[in-house]
Amino acid sequence: MPDLHLVGGTVVTADGSFRADVVVRDGRIAALGLDLPPGSAEVVDVAGRLVMPGFIDAHTHMDMPFGGTVTADNWDTGTRAALAGGTTTIVDFALQEPGRGLVDAVEAWHAKAAAKTRIDYGLHVAITDLTDAVKREIAELPAHGVCTVKLFMAYKGTTLFTADEDLFEVLQLAPSSGVLVMVHAENGDVIGKLQAQALARGDVDPIWHARTRPAGVEAEATDRAIRLAEIADAPLAVVHVTCSGALDAIRRARERGRTVYAETCPQYLVLDDSALARPDFEGAKFVCSPPLRDARNQEPLWGGLRMGDLLLVGSDHCSFDFAGQKELGRGDFTKIPNGMPGVEERPFVLWTHGVGEGRISPEQFVAALSTNQARVHGMYPRKGVIAPGADADLVVWDPGRAVSATQSNRHGDADYTPYEGMAFTGGPERVYVRGRLAFHDGAVRAEPGSGRFVERAFDTPGMGPAVR
Ligand code: URP
Ligand code: ZN
Ligand code: ZN
Repeated sequence: MPDLHLVGGTVVTADGSFRADVVVRDGRIAALGLDLPPGSAEVVDVAGRLVMPGFIDAHTHMDMPFGGTVTADNWDTGTRAALAGGTTTIVDFALQEPGRGLVDAVEAWHAKAAAKTRIDYGLHVAITDLTDAVKREIAELPAHGVCTVKLFMAYKGTTLFTADEDLFEVLQLAPSSGVLVMVHAENGDVIGKLQAQALARGDVDPIWHARTRPAGVEAEATDRAIRLAEIADAPLAVVHVTCSGALDAIRRARERGRTVYAETCPQYLVLDDSALARPDFEGAKFVCSPPLRDARNQEPLWGGLRMGDLLLVGSDHCSFDFAGQKELGRGDFTKIPNGMPGVEERPFVLWTHGVGEGRISPEQFVAALSTNQARVHGMYPRKGVIAPGADADLVVWDPGRAVSATQSNRHGDADYTPYEGMAFTGGPERVYVRGRLAFHDGAVRAEPGSGRFVERAFDTPGMGPAVR
């Protein structure tokens, strides 16, 4: 592969922006500077464009069974959509099958991913069955390139649900194993009770998904998870934070000096719970957990991103078709598969409504989508940075690119987009994965199977990753 020179652009990093040409050799960043001799390199003029580290989405669900069905996107279609937004690495959740081990889950997910993925990938393991053997297995995960596990405080009545005593024990075991615990923080007992009461009253429509998971159940569980982590003296990552109550708990913990990393998702920044009330069962398209909230939660979330209490924006891409999948819940909202697409839209939403509307800076955009993702999830400085030695995962971002999201211009496989009709300004023109052109002017070029597994680890086992 000849060297590649991206010439004339502005490099945007989490720390600052500056004019520099970028030299790529053998799939890695070789140099940054001005007036570097091109030699025999392929020279690409990126004047007027921003050059950013490839985006990392550490919250996706590809080819995942959920609610009696399987996500609409597999690793081929899901990573095709990811590339169309500038995402060059995802970290997906390998689900432990009850009765099986954690390494089994990792192997099962490699079997789904390896031949299909068009971008690099890492794996978390979602623990669903904490047997004594599984407790011992946690320490083995880093040897398999996995340094994060997720536990669900919600979904009571399914195999995903984890009781406090098990969550607490994992929090005790994780730090000395070099593993970071991630939580889905919603009070599963309260949700179960509210759901049963709603169904008994005949309240079966999609809006009841949100009404039976009020913000308080998330705020309470977030605070409880943080307190359990505090007792166990473990770092913690809280995923898909949706509301100011949960954010307050996170902020208070950080003020106490606790290591709590928090993520929100694009849907919580720009969509709200009124969408679940759309007629003709359309509200089911917006069913995800935790649910979309009252719009008054949006500005506090943007503030959390600006102030650093929310370090990450992940997509929680978990797509189901409206036809045949979301429809499983007609007449009973608890049977609507939870989740929505977003791996493609995540950067567009954050740029248009974040940077474009003055809520966050371009540097904070890069931090939330790339650099902090690499740091919190054990990939830094191989990923998430434009610096000599790093993988040449690069996004050439055109801040003037205008696109209106609609189903027919999406690159994933779901039969709808929750962002239908939303106008975006700013988008990727070119995307490189380890120096190879993977997306250009609307066309995905990377082939299925061209992505590689990223072995992730924390430099200092037990200490958790260092993020400002
Ligand atoms: O609704 C969602 N978020 N589905 C995916 C599973 C999860 O809890 O992240
Ligand atoms: Zn979750
Ligand atoms: Zn998720």
